[in-house]
Order: sequence, then C-alpha cells, then structure tokens
Amino acid sequence: MIAIIAAIDKNNALGFKNKLLFYLPDDLKRFKALTTGNTVVMGRKTFESLPKGALPNRRNIVLSRSNILTLPGAEVYASLEEALKHCDDNEQVFIMGGASVYKQAMPIADRLYMTEIDATAKEVDVYFPTIDHELWQVTKRDVRHADDRHPYDFAFVDYEKKA
Ligand SMILES: NC(=O)c1ccc[n+]([C@@H]2O[C@H](COP(=O)([O-])OP(=O)(O)OC[C@H]3O[C@@H](n4cnc5c(N)ncnc54)[C@H](OP(=O)(O)O)[C@@H]3O)[C@@H](O)[C@H]2O)c1
Repeated sequence: MIAIIAAIDKNNALGFKNKLLFYLPDDLKRFKALTTGNTVVMGRKTFESLPKGALPNRRNIVLSRSNILTLPGAEVYASLEEALKHCDDNEQVFIMGGASVYKQAMPIADRLYMTEIDATAKEVDVYFPTIDHELWQVTKRDVRHADDRHPYDFAFVDYEKKA
C-alpha cells in the first residue's frame, strides 16, 4: 500500500521557504499515529526541514540525486522507483512530501490522507497537485473546528483511487 499524506490550504498550498504553512497540533498527532511503525518517503528538502532530523520509530527514506549524500537515520535513494524497490509488499509506505515527490507519487499512490485546512496562506512557493475527482473518491471526512490550539477549521479527508 502506497499512501500520500499531506496538509493543504484552500488553494492546495503546501509550504513556503521550505517550511510548513500552518501549525495544527492535532494534524501532527494524526501524522504520527498513521506513520509510526511504517515507512516514510520524502524529498531531500523536506528531510532538511525536519526540526530534529529523521522521524523516530519509522523507516525514513529520502530521495536525492546526489550520490554522496548520507543522512543520519535515513536511507537515501536516487529515484522513487529505486526507493520502492527496497520496500516489501507488506510495508505501509507513506509519501510525506514535498511538492516534487507528491507530484511523482500521485500516479502510483493507492490512498491519500489529506488535511484540508480552511485557510488561505499569504506566502506560498509549493503546491499539492490537483486531486482529480474522476480518479479519487472520498472514503472518510472528519471535520474539526477551530479552537484555542487550532486557528482554523480543518478536515481529515481520506481518498482511495477508484478501481
Ligand atoms: N504541507 C505538507 O503536508 C508538506 C509536507 C511535506 C513538505 N511540505 C513542504 O514542501 C516543501 C518542500 O517541497 P519541494 O518540492 O521544494 O522539495 P522536496 O520534494 O521535499 O525535495 C526535493 C528534492 O528531493 C530530491 N528528489 C525529488 N525527486 C527525486 C527523484 N525522483 N529522485 C531523486 N531525488 C529526488 C531532490 O534532491 P537533491 O536536490 O538532493 O537531488 C530534490 O531537490 C517545503 O516547503 C515543505 O515544508 C509540506
């Protein structure tokens, strides 16, 4: 199973200057719950954006075309195909960004775990690809309202690729 996990605003915005756009603690909690014990695949820039390096209790895979790159706590592969070749069939693989890797993974992903944030970021330099509703169907929508820890409404929306 290959899943994509991402948080986007109303315009599919993902990030700015190699940082996330929003801080939503319950979103981070869900990310951790879904990915812990599984495999996460990310681009080199997203790895560099992680505040404490490799994510604990997960197999961390980083994509980079640099053949001299070694990263603590992570395996580095030179293409998405190469990375997936090193994953078992029974492994749950979560593609966790950034924009360039999401774009490459959309055609091969089985599921999307989206966090759709009811906000519009002012400064954005990377976007999630448009989700084609002819290809993807929503299987679950869990709406959360803004509260003292979350400045915006948001929804956890799961999609499956139509057969
Ligand atoms: N909102 C969210 O859910 C979310 C999640 C993750 C990231 N983000 C945001 O996304 C932004 C980063 O995205 P990005 O597109 O700029 O960078 P990225 O996808 O994280 O990393 C790009 C780099 O990954 C490597 N790469 C990508 N595809 C590859 C392939 N097929 N084979 C080998 N290497 C490959 C290359 O590294 P080399 O240059 O080393 O060759 C490339 O420069 C940040 O703002 C981050 O905060 C948002």
